[in-house]
Amino acid sequence: GLPPRVRIHEVGARDGLQNEKTVVPTEVKAEFVHRLADAGLTTVEATSFVHPKWVPQLADAERLYPLVRELGERGVALPVLVPNARGLDRALALGARSVAVFASATESFAKANLNRTVDESLAMFEPVVTRAKGGEHGGVRVRGYLSMCFGDPWEGPVPLAQVVRVARALLDMGCDELSLGDTIGVATPGHVLALLTALNAEGVPTDRIGVHFHDTYGQALANTLAALQHGVTTVDASAGGLGGCPFAKSATGNLATEDLVWMLTGLGVETGVDLGRLTATSGWMAGRLGRPSPSRTVRALTGA
Ligand code: HMG
Ligand code: MG
Repeated sequence: GLPPRVRIHEVGARDGLQNEKTVVPTEVKAEFVHRLADAGLTTVEATSFVHPKWVPQLADAERLYPLVRELGERGVALPVLVPNARGLDRALALGARSVAVFASATESFAKANLNRTVDESLAMFEPVVTRAKGGEHGGVRVRGYLSMCFGDPWEGPVPLAQVVRVARALLDMGCDELSLGDTIGVATPGHVLALLTALNAEGVPTDRIGVHFHDTYGQALANTLAALQHGVTTVDASAGGLGGCPFAKSATGNLATEDLVWMLTGLGVETGVDLGRLTATSGWMAGRLGRPSPSRTVRALTGA
């Protein structure tokens, strides 16, 4: 069976924009986030408090966050990425209520993305999660991303046990939710089911798991459907299919939010998203970025 409702974790303003070469003006990013919320998305990842030299596109996080913060009062969660104590300090200073750390299942990507081994990065996150969850801030929500859950550009296919170990570590340190990343988009549905089953067998409940698919090989929707049939109800997607990771060659855009909403609507699964408004937003953003959206649904609905 399928869940009656899915929560979409929208990553367009973060995963989508982090990879763009042309720097998008802060005001345009703020409008993007507002329009995504107006389209009915209730979780809109806003930006990253990472090193500005590592991700120059998001170096304006201090200016952006205050422009979108009021959405929090309307019940919109605005998660931000924080790799370390410095990132958490920056986010908390601006009143962030939802943060995400981001681990890797592989050593190669941990090094490329965080300049750390897998275990060194877990040691870096541990005090971040503890402080975020601690009473001092009234309990900030923490998501734990886990990248390279299926394949890695340097290491090839990733053994399930390697993924399960890091997943457990993230939950054990106090993350509220896990997001399983197919960073380079090589997963297929059978592999998705095998990983979910392996996680369940090690005591990771499905209701703590979200899925994060990139669409490199056109498998993102099929993978999502497999996860939904297994009971997953949190799905990451990026408006217009923007996205990629500057530290993982061959990473292309995320699953497009419009493609996801089209499928879920057809299946009778509720999302609360207004597809017309969302498509208009992606069309507008594509204009700002100077190239058409890679989403099939956006192209079909806008005649682009
Ligand atoms: P490092 O060079 O090892 O940093 O980078 P460090 O800890 O040695 O610190 C060096 C200097 O950086 C220090 O300054 C720090 O203060 C400063 P100094 O004392 O030398 O003057 N610094 C910072 N400044 C601002 N904000 C910070 C910060 N941290 C340190 N947060 C670091 C380590 C983690 C910082 C770096 O590797 C980094 O920023 N990485 C971010 C990479 C990233 O954002 N990747 C994309 C997101 S992950 C993704 O896209 C995958 C995902 O979508 C899921 C999927 O698809 O799989 C989530
Ligand atoms: Mg990603």
